[in-house]
Amino acid sequence: MNRSLLALALSLAMGLPAVQAADEATINARVAEHRAVVKEFGGTLRQELQAAMKEGGPVNAIDICHKRAPEIAADLSGKTGWDVHRTSLKPRAKAPDAWESTVLAKFDEQRAAGKSPDEMEFYEVVENNGKSQLRYMKALGTAALCLNCHGSEVKPEVKAKIDALYPNDQAIGYQEGQIRGAVSISSPL
Ligand code: HEC
Repeated sequence: MNRSLLALALSLAMGLPAVQAADEATINARVAEHRAVVKEFGGTLRQELQAAMKEGGPVNAIDICHKRAPEIAADLSGKTGWDVHRTSLKPRAKAPDAWESTVLAKFDEQRAAGKSPDEMEFYEVVENNGKSQLRYMKALGTAALCLNCHGSEVKPEVKAKIDALYPNDQAIGYQEGQIRGAVSISSPL
């Protein structure tokens, strides 16, 4: 008897509602799908960002981050039916919820202990209004390219455009290698 059948038989025998917790194989498969979405998000955005930087520098490239990043996230959300977005402890556009804040703080601790952001991810099955959800986050490290708009020496014309678009911007003053934020994905199980 496989694990899910066993769980079903047990819950019936015990008079419990036959609600099955997602098994490990289901969770592992879903995590792999979340990773693929992160990869697609990052790949598409990086390509467009680099092209816009080459064409017109960081002032020009702000439009990619401002318009295309949310669009790409929305496209991926539409395609998968999941919630796909980016967030950060020092947000420019999207503040984290409580679960995301805890995970981001954990990533910062791991970074301080010498771990590379490329290797950082975290996932957990959480209950939301009685329904199981897989929540997943992948850390985004700060690369040299990011400093153009998230560093401590952002050009005045770049800073002016960012401040006009995001009057409450906190996403400045980063150094290379720090955790800039994360991609956050939730999907129903
Ligand atoms: C050309 C300017 C520019 C560059 C370069 C840039 N960003 Fe951003 N970034 C922005 C803008 C503008 C936003 C707000 C996007 C929005 O409105 O959703 C943003 C938002 C983000 C967010 C979402 C969380 C938040 O703060 O709201 C993350 C994460 C992020 N950037 C990471 C990076 C990383 C990592 C790099 C380097 C690989 C990078 N950015 C390079 C301009 C930039």
